[in-house]
Amino acid sequence: MKVGVFDSGIGGLTVVKSLLEHQLFEEIIYFGDTARVPYGSKDKNTIIRYGIEAVEFFKNFDIDLIIVACNTVSAYALQEMIESATCPVIGVVEAGVLATANAVKDKSSDILIIGTKATIDSKAYENGLKNLGFTHLQAKPTPLLVPLVEEELYRGEILDATLKHYFKDMQIPDALILGCTHFPLLSSILQEYFQNNTLLIHSGDAIVEYLKNQFHLVQKYKDTNVKFFASENPEALKKTAQKWLYEK
Ligand code: DGL
Repeated sequence: MKVGVFDSGIGGLTVVKSLLEHQLFEEIIYFGDTARVPYGSKDKNTIIRYGIEAVEFFKNFDIDLIIVACNTVSAYALQEMIESATCPVIGVVEAGVLATANAVKDKSSDILIIGTKATIDSKAYENGLKNLGFTHLQAKPTPLLVPLVEEELYRGEILDATLKHYFKDMQIPDALILGCTHFPLLSSILQEYFQNNTLLIHSGDAIVEYLKNQFHLVQKYKDTNVKFFASENPEALKKTAQKWLYEK
């Protein structure tokens, strides 16, 4: 099994990390559109165009499946990508919705969705969860968390102030959907902020669950070969990959 993983930049490495932990693929081709990141502040048509271009990129490789690790692209461009691809294309939003439904049994649980402005504006998570009967949903764009992660500010004053800025008037949710590739790197601080009373839904784990349930993939490949491509500065992406995937 050879998979293409697409993200707007480095964030999708959090999804690759989950794929590696579960040893599902023989080879992973990662493509981050680092020249044009962030996607989260762009409009629908642009996101769709970039998504289709990513499908074209993957046509250079003989891959079995494309995983859209980027929440923003999954929210806007999945259908168009499916239509232009010659292999299946799956995205983290549907996987995240299903993972939430599997983990949260009470449909009136308070669920908070955070993500980029585009992802939240799309209402993709909200609509998916509403269709499954969830009634207490809140969604909040938290775009400042993206550059903080890129600066490796996983703790500290700036992050504390940012969390307060976004969440100070909110009650502790039962579940928090980390609707952006970068946010799993803030899992522990978010857990603490919500006093360890909130279940976090992580796109990487959600996609693994989805692959196991829908594609019947099993743990098999101990040494996955990962190839990294970026539309700008691939060396920087490889450096981040080394840190995020292999050193933590
Ligand atoms: N990868 C994006 C996402 O998951 C975050 C970064 C961006 O705005 O492009 O939504």
